[in-house]
Amino acid sequence: MTRIAIYPGTFDPVTRGHIDICQRALKVFDRIVIGVADSLAKQPFFNLDERFDMLETVFADTDRISVRPFSGLLIDFARECNADVIIRGLRAISDFEYEVQLAGMNRSLAPEIETVFLTAAQPFAFVSSSLVREIARLDGDVSEFLHPEILRRLTDKLQNHK
Ligand code: COA
Repeated sequence: MTRIAIYPGTFDPVTRGHIDICQRALKVFDRIVIGVADSLAKQPFFNLDERFDMLETVFADTDRISVRPFSGLLIDFARECNADVIIRGLRAISDFEYEVQLAGMNRSLAPEIETVFLTAAQPFAFVSSSLVREIARLDGDVSEFLHPEILRRLTDKLQNHK
């Protein structure tokens, strides 16, 4: 039986923290589907196509990982992907409360789908997409947190917004 897990998020943009979670998840699951949420409420800096494309670029050579955009409920997306697991990354203890709430709500809606948590590797324990964007906007060095191609796209987009 092929074990398929989804890894959902906004990925605005994808960071090395997200990449690390995906790479570790591959040790546990046969296939990972990265679900790029439209997250309209968050008013993302990169539009959905851009976020999707960045993930496709980063994982172009990883054939057990695919990328799909989604809107609507996470559990509906999981079912569409034939996934019975949702992967979430835990960084600091502050993530815990929200993540338990999310997992609990998703379990009530879809008891057949489990949420599995992976802890972030130490260098990425404090990374978030919005902090990376803010530091980059203020000309700080974020190269250790981003794949070189993502760094290039972020730098370009910030230039265009000046
Ligand atoms: N490394 C680096 N950063 C990480 C990370 C990691 N391992 N894990 C999370 N982050 C960051 C993200 O980049 C994001 O940063 P930001 O807020 O600065 O942009 C932040 O932590 C929060 O990430 P996450 O919890 O994944 O939120 P999200 O907005 O990326 O995704 C969804 C949330 C899409 C999973 C959730 O909103 C959802 O399920 N939506 C679908 C609608 C639905 O079903 N709702 C009902 C749920 S019960």
